[in-house]
Amino acid sequence: MDSFTPRPRPAWVAGLPEQGTDTLVVHHPYDGSEVATVAVPGPEQVERAVATAAAVAREFRRRPAHQHAAVLDHVSRALAERAEEVAEIITAESGKPLAWSAVEVERAVSVFRIAAEEAVRFDGELRRLDSTEAGEGRMAMVRRVPHGPVLGIAPFNFPLNLVAHKVAPALAVGAPIVVKPAPRTPLSALVLGEILAETDLPDGSFSVLPLGNEATSALVADPRLPVVSFTGSVPVGWSIAESVPRKQVVLELGGNAAAVVLADWPDLAGAARRIATFGTYQGGQSCIAVQRVIVERAVASRFLPLLEQAMRELRTGDPYDDTVTVGPVVDEAAAERIVAWIEEAVSAGARVLCGGSRSGTTVEPTLLADVPPTAKVWAEEVFGPVLAVSVADSADEAFAAVNDSRYGLQAGVFTRDLPLAMRASEELEVGGVIIGDVPSYRADAMPYGGVKDSGVGREGVRSAMADFTAVRTTVLPAR
Ligand code: SIN
Repeated sequence: MDSFTPRPRPAWVAGLPEQGTDTLVVHHPYDGSEVATVAVPGPEQVERAVATAAAVAREFRRRPAHQHAAVLDHVSRALAERAEEVAEIITAESGKPLAWSAVEVERAVSVFRIAAEEAVRFDGELRRLDSTEAGEGRMAMVRRVPHGPVLGIAPFNFPLNLVAHKVAPALAVGAPIVVKPAPRTPLSALVLGEILAETDLPDGSFSVLPLGNEATSALVADPRLPVVSFTGSVPVGWSIAESVPRKQVVLELGGNAAAVVLADWPDLAGAARRIATFGTYQGGQSCIAVQRVIVERAVASRFLPLLEQAMRELRTGDPYDDTVTVGPVVDEAAAERIVAWIEEAVSAGARVLCGGSRSGTTVEPTLLADVPPTAKVWAEEVFGPVLAVSVADSADEAFAAVNDSRYGLQAGVFTRDLPLAMRASEELEVGGVIIGDVPSYRADAMPYGGVKDSGVGREGVRSAMADFTAVRTTVLPAR
C-alpha cells in the first residue's frame, strides 16, 4: 500500500482531474485503516460536469463508430496492463480477496473489449412495410440513437466492473456519461477516469464524481441526464424510478438467489463446493450470491454433509492473504445486521450447521437449516456469507419455492435432465436461469438483470446499449 499518497486523488470533472471543495477518506473494510483520500467535487464542478455532458452530446453521438471502438479498445488494453495495481486498489477499497479482485479486473478488461466490438456492429435494420396495402411502396429504416447523457450510479461490491458496465456501453453508443461511484469505493472508478483521460474523448463526454449519496437525488432529477443506470439497493432503486417516471431508468437491484440441486445431478460434492464458494465470495456481497439452497429430498441426506464440509473448508481473514477465500463485509454495521438476521432466524426455529458469528467486519461462513420462509435470511437479501438450505419433494416444489420471493434476479439449477432444464427456463420467474451451475454465474456479454423487485432493464454491453438508445424510424420510399 506504499503506492497510496496523502494527496487527495482527483475527481474527473468533464474529463479533467480536479481537486474538490471537500474530501472523503476511503477505509479498508478489513481493519479500518485509511487507504486514500479523495477529492469531492463541489456544486459548481458538478454543474460543469452535467452541463458539458449535455453540451457535447450531439458532437459525441455523431462521431464515427471506429473512434468509439478505438477509445474502448484503449481502455481495455490499459486496464489489462495495470491489472495488478488495479486489483490491489479494489482489494484496498472493498476488502475482497486479491484473487477475486484480479477476476474483477479481468472482467472489466473484457467488458471494454466487448464494447469495442459491439460499437462497430451496433446498427439498425431495414423493414419492409408492404405487408399491408398502406405500406406499399415504402420501407422503414430503424436506427437507434442515444437518449442523451447517462448518469451511472454504482455500488461498492464490484467497484470497477459495475462501473465498466455503465461506462462501456454509454461510450459505445456515443452517449456522454457522468459516473457517481459508491462513496466507500471510488478508487478504481477514478483509475478508470485516468485511463479515459488518455484517449481523445471530447471534453465533457465523461466525468467521475465521488460524491456522497446525498447528491444522488439532484443528479437523478436533472433533465440533462435523461438516462439513469443504477445498481444498488432495492428501496433506493425503486425510489429513483418513481421520482423520474419519464426518464429511461435501468435498475440492477438485489435478490435472494436460489440454487436448486435436483436428484439427477451426478456430482453432489462439486455442486456443494460451487454453492459454498458462491454463497460466500466477497463476503456474500453480490446480488447473485447464492442465498437459498433448495435440494431435492432424494439426495438431501448425501448433499447436506457435503455442503457443510465445503462451508467449513472456507478460510476467512485478511484479503491480502492468498489463502483467504472469504473477506470482510463492507463495514461493521453490515456485519452486525447480518448476525442479527441469523439470530432472528434461529429464534424462529432455524438450526446453525456452521458459522453464525462475526469478528469485526468478518462474518463466519454460515449455513442454516430449517429456516422459516418468513425469516429475513430467506425472504430478504442478506448480502453476507450466509446460506439457508431447505428440502423439496420434487423439482416442481423446488421451482415453486424459488418463485416464492419478491425478487427475481438469477437462479441456478443443478440438473442434466434436459426437459427439467427447459421447465426451469420456462417456469422460474427470474432474469437469468443457469443450468448446471450457481445463480452467481455471469458472463459479461450476456443479458443480465432482474424481474419483480430485482429491477428493470438489462446490462451485458449489447443489452445496455439498447437500453441507452431509442428507436428512431425513418419511413422511405421503397422505389
Ligand atoms: C451484482 O452484484 O449485481 C453483479 C454481479 C456480477 O457482476 O457478477
